[in-house]
Amino acid sequence: MLAGIKEMSIRAAEENRIVPGFNVFGYEDAKVVIDVARELGAPAILMSNKDAVHHMPLKISAGIYRALAEEVDIPVAIHLDHGKDFDLCKEAIDAGYTSVMFDGSQLPFEENIQRTAEIVDYAHERGISVEAEIGAVGYADPSVNYVPVYTEPGQAKEFAEKTKVDALAVAVGTLHRMTAQSAKLQYYLLDEIEAATKVPLVIHGSTGLPDEDLEKLRSYHIGKMNIGTALRMVFGRTLKNFLNDNPSEFDRLKAYQPAMTATRKVVMDKYKRLGW
Ligand code: G3H
Ligand code: ZN
Repeated sequence: MLAGIKEMSIRAAEENRIVPGFNVFGYEDAKVVIDVARELGAPAILMSNKDAVHHMPLKISAGIYRALAEEVDIPVAIHLDHGKDFDLCKEAIDAGYTSVMFDGSQLPFEENIQRTAEIVDYAHERGISVEAEIGAVGYADPSVNYVPVYTEPGQAKEFAEKTKVDALAVAVGTLHRMTAQSAKLQYYLLDEIEAATKVPLVIHGSTGLPDEDLEKLRSYHIGKMNIGTALRMVFGRTLKNFLNDNPSEFDRLKAYQPAMTATRKVVMDKYKRLGW
């Protein structure tokens, strides 16, 4: 069934669990995520990032993901990840996404508040949840032009109060697109942010978190954890190996099978470590 990220994040944080939000790029990985969630009786979050939006119009992806969600009896959020402006967030909401993230992390503090609040107004009037970012989670890839900055707890409190966001992405030591699980989480900072705001927190760049951290973070007030690169790696590498091992094969549907099976293992492992 369709759901937003708000209720599932609040509930997970209260139950010492975290809902993994997976970046997906079409039917194959979305189906794997929903199948695993259904098996575990867990909620699912299917997220479209900017690469996905560039590849497939939001109307089309909304149609695929909504059809998958409507077939199952677990809550499934269809989420725009890192929406860059009001127009894109509006387009996602109007296309049928059930929640959006507005990423104003590179804007001055006051402007981030103001632009986030505008999107929250539009979204909440339509029953749609909003996530936004305070501080800035950087990128492991140095070619990405982006200024990372740790979240300041006082700003997190003010931002959450003034914008009324449903979930708050914070920068506490992770980086996007890490290919090894070697991020060093700043627990002291997470403790201070948690003491400053009651809004469920979101950790981005979670591919880079070691397994022990995934398990440890369950007891924090985190509702959602974004995982992208881990799935892209396993899907892409399995696809590549299959085609290398079977050079006369040209049927992509055959190549998808081992890629989906391998992706399923990673999705299941992440869910279990996050308390499901
Ligand atoms: O918003 C998406 C995530 O933060 C994914 O990050 O690809 O490093 O796991 P990741
Ligand atoms: Zn992110």
